[in-house]
Amino acid sequence: VRIRKEQAVSLTTILLLLTTVIVLTSPFIGSASSAHTDQITFTKEVAPIFFKNCAECHRPGEAAPFSVLSYKDVRPWAKSIREKVISREMPPWHADPNHGEFKNDRRLTQQEINTIVKWVDGGAKEGEARALPPQPKFVEGWRFGKPDLVLQMPMEYVLREDAIDQYVNVHLDPKLTEDRYIQAVEVRPENKTIAHHGMLLSQLPGEIAWLLREAPIFETDEGGVKRVKEDVPVQNDGCKLPEGGGAGGLNTTVLTAYVPGRGGDDWTQHPVRIPPKSEFFLQMHYSNAFRSRTVNQDQTKIGIWFSKEKMPAKITTTEVMANLFFKIPAGVEHHKASACWTIREDNVELAALMPHMHLRGKSMEVMAVYPNGRFEVLLNVPKYEYRWQTNYRFAKPKLIPKGTTIKITAIFDNSAKNKYNPDPTKDVRWDERTGGEMLACFLELIKPQMQPAARTSPTLSTFK
Ligand code: HEC
Repeated sequence: VRIRKEQAVSLTTILLLLTTVIVLTSPFIGSASSAHTDQITFTKEVAPIFFKNCAECHRPGEAAPFSVLSYKDVRPWAKSIREKVISREMPPWHADPNHGEFKNDRRLTQQEINTIVKWVDGGAKEGEARALPPQPKFVEGWRFGKPDLVLQMPMEYVLREDAIDQYVNVHLDPKLTEDRYIQAVEVRPENKTIAHHGMLLSQLPGEIAWLLREAPIFETDEGGVKRVKEDVPVQNDGCKLPEGGGAGGLNTTVLTAYVPGRGGDDWTQHPVRIPPKSEFFLQMHYSNAFRSRTVNQDQTKIGIWFSKEKMPAKITTTEVMANLFFKIPAGVEHHKASACWTIREDNVELAALMPHMHLRGKSMEVMAVYPNGRFEVLLNVPKYEYRWQTNYRFAKPKLIPKGTTIKITAIFDNSAKNKYNPDPTKDVRWDERTGGEMLACFLELIKPQMQPAARTSPTLSTFK
C-alpha cells in the first residue's frame, strides 16, 4: 500500500511539472493557434467536412441548390452555409440527440460547425490548391449494380411552370407469380431537380379491397389516395381504441422512399418478402421549389434486386401504425393526437422508424411501453418537417419483447402561424392528399419468417 502511495505522489509531481511546462509554453501555443484560426481554408479544413457531409446532395445533378465540390461553387453560399450549419438546418436531421442512436445520423460535430463558422468569419478563403482532398466518389447510375428488374413510370411527367407542387400516383405490376424475396430496391428519378420525394409501396389488391369495404376510409378518384369517411366518430387518443387507432398486420409494405440523399434500401441480411400478385404503388411529389431545376420532365425508374435465398430464416417488413380517427380543429396551434400498436409476436426487432404527417405536423415522439411497465423514448422528432421524409435507422436493431406497446404522439399546428399550412380555416381529418393530414409511423421490423404467411387481420372496423 505504501509503495502505491509513493507512486501516486510521484505521479502527481510529474503531472504538476507537466502542467507547469504547459502553462509556461502556453503563450506560444496561444499565438500559434490564433494565427492558425485566421488561416482556416476551404481546401485544407473545410472541403473534407463538405465532401463527407454535404456532397451526397450538394453536387451536380442532385436536388440541393449548389455544389460543394469546388471552391468556386461554394464561395457565393458562404454566408448562408454559416447560418444553416449553426441553426443545424443543414445537414437535414431532425431527431433529438437525447434519444436513440442512428446509423444514418447526419449531424455535424460542434467542432465541425466551429471550423465552418471560423472559415466564413475569416473571409471564406480558398487556400492552397494542393491541399484539396480527392473528390468524393459516388456510384453513378444504379446504386447496387444492374437490377434484376426495372419498372418505370408509364409516361414522362412534365411539371408545369405555374405548379408549385404536383403529385403523380402510378400503379406498377412486378408480375410476380410466387413469393419473391427482395434484397434491395431503389427509386431513381431521372430528374432529381424536380423530384421532391417519392414513396414506393407494395400491396395486395385483395387486401386493399378488404380495407375499403371494412375500414372507415374511402378511396378518392385522385390516383387512389384515401380519406376518412365523413361520419366516422372522432378519437384523438388512438390508444383508447381497441386496436390503438388502426394499424399493423396489413400486407401493405413501404418498400422505400426517395428523398434527396436516400434513393434505396439494402436488406441483404434479411430480405423483404413480396407475395404473388402484389402490385407496386409509386407516389411521386414534384416541386418547383428547388432552385437547381434545369429541366421539367421526369420518368422515375424503380430497380429491384432479388435475393438468392429461397427461404430466409428472418425477413424485413415495414408496417404502418396510424390513428385514422383524429380531427384537428381549425386554427388550433397545438393539437395532440396519438396511436398505439401492441407487438404480438416473439423475436421482433425494430430496425428503423419513419414518422409521417403532412404540412401541419409539428412534432412526433415514438415510445415503447414494455410488458413490465418500463417505458423508453425510441425516437423524438421535436421539429418535424414534411419535406424531409427521414427513415431513422437504429445503429443496432432493437429487440421488442412480445406484449410491448409502441405509442406515437403527434402535435399538429393548424394555425395561421404555421407557414406551411394550406388552410387554417378548416378542420382536418385523415386525408392522404397533401392538403389533408395523416398520423402514421412506418416501422421497419425484422422477424422470423413464418409459413404460411402469418397475417394478423387488420381490425380497423372499431366503430362499426
Ligand atoms: C440529404 C441531402 C442534403 C445534405 C446531406 C445537405 N444538404 Fe444542404 N440542402 C439540401 C436541399 C435539398 C436543399 C434545398 C432547400 C431545401 O429544400 O431545404 C439544401 C439547401 C441548403 C442551403 C440553403 C441554400 C439556399 O437556398 O439558401 C445551404 C446553405 C445548405 N444546404 C448547406 C449544406 C451544408 C453546408 C451541408 C453539409 C454540412 C448540407 N447542406 C448537407 C440537401 C442536403
